[in-house]
Amino acid sequence: MKKRTYTIAILFAGIFIVLACKTGKKATQSAQKEEGLVLMEQNCYTCHSPTASESNRLAPPMIAVKKHYFTEKMSEEEFVNDLVGFVLNPTDEKSKMPGAKRKFNLMPKVAYSKEDVEKIAKYIYRNNIEQPEWFEEHYKKEMGGGNQFLEEDTTFLAQGKKLSMRAQQELGRNLMGALNKAGVVHAMNFCNEKALFLTDSMAKVMNVSIKRVSDKNRNPRNAANESEIAYIQLLKNNLKNGIEPKPGSKVIDGKKVGYYPIMTNQMCMQCHGSGAEITPETKDKISKYYPEDKAKDYKPNEIRGLWVVEQ
Ligand code: HEC
Ligand code: HEC
Repeated sequence: MKKRTYTIAILFAGIFIVLACKTGKKATQSAQKEEGLVLMEQNCYTCHSPTASESNRLAPPMIAVKKHYFTEKMSEEEFVNDLVGFVLNPTDEKSKMPGAKRKFNLMPKVAYSKEDVEKIAKYIYRNNIEQPEWFEEHYKKEMGGGNQFLEEDTTFLAQGKKLSMRAQQELGRNLMGALNKAGVVHAMNFCNEKALFLTDSMAKVMNVSIKRVSDKNRNPRNAANESEIAYIQLLKNNLKNGIEPKPGSKVIDGKKVGYYPIMTNQMCMQCHGSGAEITPETKDKISKYYPEDKAKDYKPNEIRGLWVVEQ
């Protein structure tokens, strides 16, 4: 009797182990697949977003990149080599997307690890990539002219959001262009909202003012005031609890004020990151022009500050 129970127990244990191995194997397979996607979301979607509207994006969506890189009969290896070759060191000669390059400026060189980019490239090769709603139509038309602001959106918060997204886009574009043309030290002049002409003229049309502030500011002029700091703190707490940072508005002294979160991404680390992410040359320049700099030691996907729109 005892012996039989024992045998049955061993049998069950055996079945259990076989099952466990099977599910275990499946789990690692899907984890590998997911890793490429997760890496892409973290490292590429800040610019190659599948959800940003046609007028608010910083780069073509990844589906467009895939369409330009993938040709029939291309092996995975060729695809991965081409894509990784470009991303690790973007140059004019290697570009296969002249239209995108003209529109957005050459992709900036970001210090990605080769291993990560290979995983991302494999994921792109093997999978269907999420595509924005507007993409199909756009792809048929190819690059339809400019995009106009001030559409029907009438509420202050929505208008301000449009303006701040525009500002972020213009700033990103200028920064990217400057990083490419002249390197990090020179590009420092381009992380300054005073040079945003497009944003300025748009703000005039909307009859609002726009500024950029931070609780950890580099330029003393950009220090957040009390109510701005309170909003930043709220966003930080939310982010900690997995709640996406959202814009908010309130009325202060009879003025409408809108707050719009500014998030960090990998590109920002060369000037706002930590340790070796900022080269000694850049560090020197920062401490020369901004002796009271607090805008360091950020990681990607953190709250860097706010666009503040006032009417
Ligand atoms: C800071 C913004 C930014 C980030 C982050 C970014 N890209 Fe780009 N990328 C661009 C821009 C802008 C273009 C379009 C201009 C161009 O083609 O160079 C582009 C173009 C590309 C192209 C096509 C280049 C060509 O012209 O042939 C590939 C491939 C690419 N990106 C891959 C990636 C991958 C993979 C990642 C993530 C590891 C990534 N990008 C992250 C901005 C970015
Ligand atoms: C090439 C270096 C460089 C890069 C890259 C860069 N910044 Fe900056 N950033 C600066 C400098 C310099 C200032 C101070 C500008 C001024 O004097 O107004 C600044 C200021 C800011 C400010 C205004 C508040 C303050 O601290 O004075 C914000 C917000 C900001 N950066 C966000 C970002 C974000 C987000 C990114 C990435 C998308 C980024 N920066 C990338 C150099 C850079």
